[in-house]
Amino acid sequence: MTQIAPSILSADFMNLQRDVQNLEAAGADLLHIDIMDGMFVPNMSFGAQVVSGIRPLTQLGLDVHLMVEQPERYIEQFITAGSDLIMIHAEATEHLYRGLQIIKDADVKAGVVINPGTPVSYIESVLPLVDQVLVMTVNPGFGGQKFIPAMLTKVAELATYRETHADTDFTIEVDGGVNDQTIAACAKAGADVFVAGSYTFAGDLATRIETLKKAANEAR
Ligand code: DX5
Ligand code: ZN
Repeated sequence: MTQIAPSILSADFMNLQRDVQNLEAAGADLLHIDIMDGMFVPNMSFGAQVVSGIRPLTQLGLDVHLMVEQPERYIEQFITAGSDLIMIHAEATEHLYRGLQIIKDADVKAGVVINPGTPVSYIESVLPLVDQVLVMTVNPGFGGQKFIPAMLTKVAELATYRETHADTDFTIEVDGGVNDQTIAACAKAGADVFVAGSYTFAGDLATRIETLKKAANEAR
């Protein structure tokens, strides 16, 4: 099933309540929330307080992407803040399994993220544990970057993996440079959840979300 997850990184932070509510009204399926620590990625965004602030404003699931060194230090805060799904980068911790386990133990969905330079084989051992795998289709840190087509082979590899391994049950998400031109190839490769920041906010929200959904559904 296609799910469009607009990234609030491209929202107007001084009008975040308005933008969150507009996204829900415009047909967004999830809200993608980017947390950047200025260490794991060369940019900072905001912390768990913003997630707590958003929580009562919307019924949408909060898809929280932690671009943070040693994310296990902050997982608790993001659970308390009301995240529905928390994703941690495979490259950001020496204790990936433990980090994911902490999230699962709190009855929150857990996701693992891989950077463009990280192969699927690196996360194979945690695949039975996760609810979502996020394949970065740009180098994390900034919105508005160009989609890296070579990442599609990883999406396809994950799609095959879950088909052939009955002990897995995860959705595949793509993040970075997803727009009306690139989404079809992602859907064809097997992605289910599509993060779109700059594309969604560069026009009428409802039209853009609808365009993405249609392009993804037609590509399958
Ligand atoms: C990049 C973030 C993305 C970003 C996507 O580090 O993880 O979620 O907001 O932005 P666009 O859709 O503009 O590439
Ligand atoms: Zn993201």
